[in-house]
Order: sequence, then structure tokens, then C-alpha cells
Amino acid sequence: MSSQEIPEENLPAEQGDAHGAVKVADEKNPFADPGLPPHEHRIQDIDERAAKRSERTVALLFTVSMLSTIAFIAAYVAIPVDKAIYVWPIGHISALNFALGMTLGLALFCIGAGAVHWARTLMSDVEIADERHPIEASPEVRAQVHADFKQGAAESVIGRRKLIRHTMLGALAMVPLAGVVLLRDLGPLPGTSLRHTTWAKGKKLVNMNTMEPLRPSDVAVGSLTFAMPDGLNEHDHDFQKNIAKDALMIIRLQPGDIKDKRELEWSHEGIVAYSKICTHVGCPISLYEQQTHHALCPCHQSTFDLADGGRVIFGPAGHALPQLRITVGEDGYLEAVSDFEEPVGPAFWERG
Ligand code: FES
Repeated sequence: MSSQEIPEENLPAEQGDAHGAVKVADEKNPFADPGLPPHEHRIQDIDERAAKRSERTVALLFTVSMLSTIAFIAAYVAIPVDKAIYVWPIGHISALNFALGMTLGLALFCIGAGAVHWARTLMSDVEIADERHPIEASPEVRAQVHADFKQGAAESVIGRRKLIRHTMLGALAMVPLAGVVLLRDLGPLPGTSLRHTTWAKGKKLVNMNTMEPLRPSDVAVGSLTFAMPDGLNEHDHDFQKNIAKDALMIIRLQPGDIKDKRELEWSHEGIVAYSKICTHVGCPISLYEQQTHHALCPCHQSTFDLADGGRVIFGPAGHALPQLRITVGEDGYLEAVSDFEEPVGPAFWERG
């Protein structure tokens, strides 16, 4: 764009010559306005081959940005989390963190460098001076801004320099991919694991206090025993995850006190096994009232009737406590007939 194309109102007041004119000081303005320095054309303004070189440089930077984003994703997938490398002068650091930082940094840097180089060499460099004006923009100013924007878009040559436009759009579109792959760090999807526990056909019920398998004779009427599946070891990596779903309350009722037909079928001589995990938000239930057969969750006082299918009789819990079907094995110990037939714990699992 030549200086002749600068809108008149964008020139300094009384500047006369837009390039180099000096306004003489007077009584009202004792300091002389130095004006704008003479405009000098850049090599790209007068030499199309230089402009092409700049275009290729900008495109190269945007392309490097795209490659860096691809390298970021590849590094995220390929480099083990625990791999360390030596980087002078930092010392030993995580290879994955180093690779992610370098590649993402390079991708962002190249976008910035490409945009700066584009602006400095190919966009219009006409100097424009403007007066201070009221903060509120008048309709004329807004119209002018709109026109300036369109003019700027035209001067950025984004329509004409298709190579720059395409590579820039590609670089900007790919950078967010780096954030998308990081979503993997939210962990593996739970799949159906929330619907199942460690319980399975033949798993013995083990007393959580004595760590001994339970016989029917170990469970007295009116007592409350906590149990877990045989084979769980508190030193195992998954112990806490498993026990949070597997824990049981074992109580013994008079078979005649059991109101729910299915509960009676799933019990053994009045011994019933219920999940210890509250169906409200998952607290462990620990209180049992033997006269009423009510189990109380200490967190928000949800109360379950263990003589009536674990039905909720009070509190915020959304559904009955899951019951585990049990029997006695050939060796005389209590064991599960199968896994729970419904998810244990808070009711939101049912939405899956
Ligand atoms: S977690 Fe049991 S009542 Fe809220």
C-alpha cells in the first residue's frame, strides 16, 4: 500500500507531508511535533522474489510447527513415563516431559515466529498516527474500524498468499491436538469394571478381622461380621480398589424373620451377605441394630432393612443394598455362588 492510500483522517493533524513534515511549535503547542520519519520501502515491497522468499520462510515456520505437534503426539505415545535422560546443565530429567516441552514449545514458537515474520515482511508497513479520542466509539468510528479491519485483511495478503494461509490454518488447527492427547492422562476408561467385583462362584468369605474363612457356625444370630473374598492381600497394588467394592456385611437372621423371598433363597440358614458400601455416595456401613435388623450408614444416616432385601427405609440412598448370593462349599466354608448381580455402591453406576 502506498502512502497515498492512507485515509486523510489517519494522518497527523496539520502534518501536510505524511513522511517527515515537522509541525512548527506555537503558543498553544510549545513542543514541535517531530512528525513521522520518511517511509522506506522494504525489499519485499519492491522485489517480488524477496516477497516469495519471505512467504516460503513463513510457510516453513508454520510447517515446522505442524511437524512439532506431530512429534509431540508421537512422543506422548512412544516414550515411557519412567524413562529418564541426562540434559546438560539440568541433569537427569524425565524424557517424556522433556520431549513434550520441547515439541510443544517449538510448535508454539514457530507459529509466533511465522506470524511476526509475515507481519514484518509482507503485511503493509505504512505508519499511521491517530489522535486521542473519547473512549466511546461513534458509529462513524465503528464503521471506520470495520473498514480498517477489511482493509487489514486485504493488506495481510491472506487471500493472495494461499501457501501462508493454508499452512497457518494447518498449524493453528493442529496445536490443540496436543491438548486432546493429554486427555489420556485422565486414566483408562473404567469399561465394565464398575459393574463387577472380585466375587465369583466358589470364592470363600474371609473374616476381615481374623483373616480366616468363615463357617456358618462362626456367625451367631444378631452378630455383624465384615468379610472379604479369599485371596485379597492388603499388600497388593489393587487391594484398596478391590476392597472398596468387595466388602461385605454378614449377619444371621432367624429364617422366619426374612421378609423378602429372594433374600431367603440367596441366604444360607439365615446367614445373609450384603454389600458394605452405601448406595448413597459409597461410605462403608458399620452400624447394625439386631432387634430391627436395620443397618445404618454413619455418613448421612441412610438406613437399610436387612431383613427385607436391604430396602432403604430412611435417608438419601437411592436404592437397596446389593445382596451377594452365598452357600456352603464341600469343605464346610461359606462361599459366593456368583458375583453381585448388580453394581455395588452409589446409584450413578446404573446410568452407564
Ligand atoms: S454415604 Fe451413606 S448415607 Fe450418604
